Amino acid sequence: MRACEPLTGSVGVPGDKSISHRAAILSSVAEGVGRIEGFLQADDCLRTADALRALGVYIDPLGADVIEVHGEGLDDLHAPDRPLELGNSGTGMRLLMGLVAGREFATTFTGDESLSRRPMDRIARPLEQMGARVEGRGERCMPPVTVHGGHLRGIEYHSPMASAQVKSAVLLAGLSAEGRTTVVEPAASRDHTERMLAAMGADIEVDGLAVTLRPGRPLQARSMRVPGDFSSAAFLLVAALLVEGSHITTGEVLLNPTRTGLLTALQAMGADIGIAGRHEEAGESVGDVSARAGALSAAEVGGDLIPRMIDEVPLLAVAATQAGGTTVIRDAGELRVKESDRLAAMAQVLGAMGGQVAEREDGLEITGATPLRGATIDSRHDHRVAMSAAVAGLIAEGETVIEGAECIETSFPGFPAALRGLGAECIEEEE
Ligand code: S3P
Repeated sequence: MRACEPLTGSVGVPGDKSISHRAAILSSVAEGVGRIEGFLQADDCLRTADALRALGVYIDPLGADVIEVHGEGLDDLHAPDRPLELGNSGTGMRLLMGLVAGREFATTFTGDESLSRRPMDRIARPLEQMGARVEGRGERCMPPVTVHGGHLRGIEYHSPMASAQVKSAVLLAGLSAEGRTTVVEPAASRDHTERMLAAMGADIEVDGLAVTLRPGRPLQARSMRVPGDFSSAAFLLVAALLVEGSHITTGEVLLNPTRTGLLTALQAMGADIGIAGRHEEAGESVGDVSARAGALSAAEVGGDLIPRMIDEVPLLAVAATQAGGTTVIRDAGELRVKESDRLAAMAQVLGAMGGQVAEREDGLEITGATPLRGATIDSRHDHRVAMSAAVAGLIAEGETVIEGAECIETSFPGFPAALRGLGAECIEEEE
């Protein structure tokens, strides 16, 4: 990456990762054939699809980003003859743990180096309360994990963290439980599971921060188009805000308010962002988002906004290096248990590039505006750290090399090409 000329133009982004996972999983236990267009063909979602195949589901890859899932209902899942290898995908592993918890067989889940260090106790705890048995490594139940499924009873679960992965795993287990299952969160996390379950005919009710599922109604397959991933578009939008003279549009992007907290934070910093063509698709809000470069000022970001921008905090940190004043990010301790410890990672990455960043227990303090300089950055097997560093590289003096950048494939295949399409210099080298 190198500092570049203004970024201009219109660009599409691949399908939303969270919705792609859920579309594959829920269609697998629905009745009928679900045709999913815009399915994210990235490693994370492909692993989920393969795991579902190992559980006996027929999934037909029809073309570049279309799959057809032939579901036969929950009872048709069968014991896999091998461990399910989920690669880097925490969402895939956690949601599938919930799905199989009510089945009368054992399922072992494995992951790559990064996923093998992530805690699964947050999923094991509620599933065990419901009647499953979960075995994992150490106190935090790290992968490999084995879920010994069985007869489940519905519970009312007060989740200690705002996590859509926890909420979704419990709701998926609730599909096979006796009696109703309620999940109450401390703050709203992304709500795609609830929306899709409702669209497929489940008896599900949302009341503030509580979601209640009453099992018994078979899910009906639906055909759907997955909107563009806001979390991917975000990298291009922030790049345009920071590279002088830029003006870009990302088209047909998911605009679910539980996902677009970054826009709220950036607007508070004075960013010039526009939204056009908003419409509904498969129960989700979709539209075109444009960004124009301009001066930014510091902001305080925390509380309920954090779950709404949980994957965009590293990127906000990049923007904050170019905002006048001290940006304070707090209540973001969850970032420490993502694909890497993203608070430590961003403090180190931006520090190495000349940013003024102080790491706090649950956040970051970043003082700007400071010029950045190119550096060699270790991705830490974390796609969002790699792409955040790439955006920083676009405004840094000199060259930025991102080592281990292939992890970007887990969520945004085509990221370097999208940047080049907007005018950036971004070279991919085989390691
Ligand atoms: C996701 C939820 C978030 C997010 C992850 C995807 C999902 O994790 O960080 O990238 O699809 O449910 P948590 O819900 O655990 O915060």
